[in-house]
Amino acid sequence: MSSASFDFAPLLPAGLPAPAARWSGRVKFDFTGGNNDADRLPLEGLIAAAEAVLRREGRTLSTYGLNSGPQGYRPLREFLVAKLKADAGMACTADDILITSGSLQALDLVNGTLLERGDTVIIEENCYQGSINRLTRRGVTPVGIPLDREGMRIDALSNALDALKRKGIRPKYIYTIPTVQNPTGTILPVGRREAMLRLSAAHGVPIFEDDCYCDLIWSGERPPAIHALSECGGVIHIGSFSKSIAPALRVGYIVAPWDAMSRMLALKTDGGSGALEQMVLAEYCAAHFFKHVPVLRRSLRAKLETLMESLNEHFGRAAEFDDPKGGIFLWVKLPEGVDAMKLYQPALAAGVAINPGPEWSVNKDASRNWMRLCFASPSHEEIHQGVAALAEVCRREFGVPA
Ligand SMILES: Cc1ncc(COP(=O)(O)O)c(C=O)c1O
Repeated sequence: MSSASFDFAPLLPAGLPAPAARWSGRVKFDFTGGNNDADRLPLEGLIAAAEAVLRREGRTLSTYGLNSGPQGYRPLREFLVAKLKADAGMACTADDILITSGSLQALDLVNGTLLERGDTVIIEENCYQGSINRLTRRGVTPVGIPLDREGMRIDALSNALDALKRKGIRPKYIYTIPTVQNPTGTILPVGRREAMLRLSAAHGVPIFEDDCYCDLIWSGERPPAIHALSECGGVIHIGSFSKSIAPALRVGYIVAPWDAMSRMLALKTDGGSGALEQMVLAEYCAAHFFKHVPVLRRSLRAKLETLMESLNEHFGRAAEFDDPKGGIFLWVKLPEGVDAMKLYQPALAAGVAINPGPEWSVNKDASRNWMRLCFASPSHEEIHQGVAALAEVCRREFGVPA
């Protein structure tokens, strides 16, 4: 019997997510997703690292966990200890780190450890779609906190925590992307990080810090991680090599106290994350990470300039945005009359893929006329041509830009 003729439908359990669409190739002008700049991928360095590490210790691939145990390849965790100390001011040891298959698995493990159906969590109102969807799928209610140019508004966070307390609700965590927020590109200043920690302690609600973009700050200087400022250990910190090196490697990590880590380890039943990726990264990063990242940042900044210039040229005042402090996204406001969910399809038909704002927000109404554009992956030429094509579709569908 061919698999096409077998009917799986009656066997599917209730509550499965909607079926995935079949991949039909990348569009010509792709401003979606978190893809990186192919020209800045340190390919030669990765090839040399792979050769060196495999020749030296390749035979450890014959064991699950590479003789490093279930928390991941020890030299990679040791690199992270040094990096997190130098960049983010975090004091942790290799034993506090769990290597994951991308930080998406980190999100799943933290959620699996802390959340159950009916729970409430606090998140930034405009937020990473992958985080929002994971909450929806688990039947968890996200309470969105508005952002301003300096990230999550602490007055609004305080009010939300008080309001929930009055209703007898203790949120499971405060999820934040404080260092180059997705999608707004804001950076939470130290004062707000400290204020968030005070609220966290006062309400007994831990902070879940997602630092996925922390390496991509134009100035190269970042505030200390919230984890670094915490005195009581109530912060779970996750990060990734997707944005600094390459997303297809699928390597992320969690820094957490053992009480939480031991629960996550018990949930991580995949026999360990990809070993080759971890070995190559450890070998490459120890020698080259701090030289590679500034080169990547300069290239991304140049692409952002091209995107902002192209939007100014083709949309004029119809496209409003703040110059983000780093990252790979621009969060763009279009005039009130534009419905980004309705712009998306005709734009795709014209070969331009965008992320409509409502998919990146828990406030669908307020984000109706916003879109997120990723500028890391398309070339300068593609950015220019793609924005011109998008403006044409927007004019045809909504009469803007005039
Ligand atoms: C805020 C945030 N967290 C986590 C992820 C997941 O990244 P990865 O699984 O590639 O590490 C992303 C990806 O874009 C993201 O934007």
